[in-house]
Amino acid sequence: MTTKQLFGKRIVLGVGGSIAAYKAILLLRRLTDLGADVEVVMTASARQFITPLTFQTLSGHPVHTDLFATDDNMTHLRLAETADLILVSPATANLIGRFAQGLADDLLSTLILASHAPLLLVPAMDGGMWQHPLVQQNVKTLRETGVEVLDPEFGTLASGHIGWGRFPSEETIMSSIISLLTMPGDYHNEVLLITAGPTHEAIDPVRYITNRSSGKMGYALAQSAQKRGAQVTFITGPTSLTPPPGVHTISVSTAEEMQDEVHKHFARATVVIMAAAVADYRLTHPAETKLKKQGQKHLSLALSLTPDIVGNLAAKKTGQFMVGFAAETENLIEEATRKLKEKGLDMIVANDVTQPDAGFGSDTNAAIVLDAHGIVEDMPLMPKRGMAMKILDLIRVCLDNRQ
Ligand code: CTP
Repeated sequence: MTTKQLFGKRIVLGVGGSIAAYKAILLLRRLTDLGADVEVVMTASARQFITPLTFQTLSGHPVHTDLFATDDNMTHLRLAETADLILVSPATANLIGRFAQGLADDLLSTLILASHAPLLLVPAMDGGMWQHPLVQQNVKTLRETGVEVLDPEFGTLASGHIGWGRFPSEETIMSSIISLLTMPGDYHNEVLLITAGPTHEAIDPVRYITNRSSGKMGYALAQSAQKRGAQVTFITGPTSLTPPPGVHTISVSTAEEMQDEVHKHFARATVVIMAAAVADYRLTHPAETKLKKQGQKHLSLALSLTPDIVGNLAAKKTGQFMVGFAAETENLIEEATRKLKEKGLDMIVANDVTQPDAGFGSDTNAAIVLDAHGIVEDMPLMPKRGMAMKILDLIRVCLDNRQ
């Protein structure tokens, strides 16, 4: 990290009303040390915890608190237009709820609506509040509209309870800020074809075969690639997730449909990332009407292999960089190495789905990335969005080395 890595960057630091408001002082210090120009906006509740004078002294700017301040009643527009990043830290459940609803009833919420700058929220609240379905719904809404919301950490909370809700470490917050402000446009010349999610293979009109894939890893990859300037075609099986904004998304249901779409878009792609957990078998003859028990104790279904989508692309390759995924429960490296070779992949991301918090459906993942020469990187447990960035970094290095 260079000493003045954030020189020339303008950051609005919004401070919410939580005991973690004092940690915003430490962040402000780190940001200004790196050369950033930071202006602080405090909510009314934040001022119950800390006085503006502390932030004013450290930022070298007056602290903004009032939407209707008579000295400069266009503060919200000036801050909104000139910011390279709006960081809200700590973001309380109340702030998260108001932002998610698009409310503009104070200076901070108004300038957020008026700005096109990236928005990063650092939540701090009691674990029970964080896990409340309404808070989770608000976080989901914000993430779906492109807002970065960090996950709180597990540990002892201000209330003395132990749980999720702890303010993320300063290092985690700083690395998110730096990556948002220095987001490389290094995929500008790339066309990415990314798949995600499970597939559904019909048994009859009301039942299907599927797997536990949530699609989160593939969605994170599509969103991150788009943010880094790539043109992304995103082919997703059925999931409960909302497609990343700005990404050309095609929804499919079966392995066969996914194969058709992948083949349609393959020729234009420069990088293909097959994050989808494609069903390996489908019914040889799905029933046209609902199957009835009719007193049978056992039922056998005849299954046929689905097409190996990525395997079938090997012969059509015209220089595309091919990345596969391998979710395994045993012999991780051996299985991933075998798949890399058999499917003609350039890189494979292997993860052990028996590991806690690294399997299907979780927001975190741990993985080992391999290429034809062996292990490229061993990635510890981290948010899937962070892992998506790291995978794109590794692909970028390979693309650059090819040229
Ligand atoms: N894949 C694919 N088409 C399939 C099955 C898998 O393109 N019909 C892709 C996946 O998207 C993934 C890679 O192949 O990138 C490995 O998937 P996986 O399910 O682990 O491999 P399989 O070949 O199905 O191996 P197995 O089920 O025997 O573990």
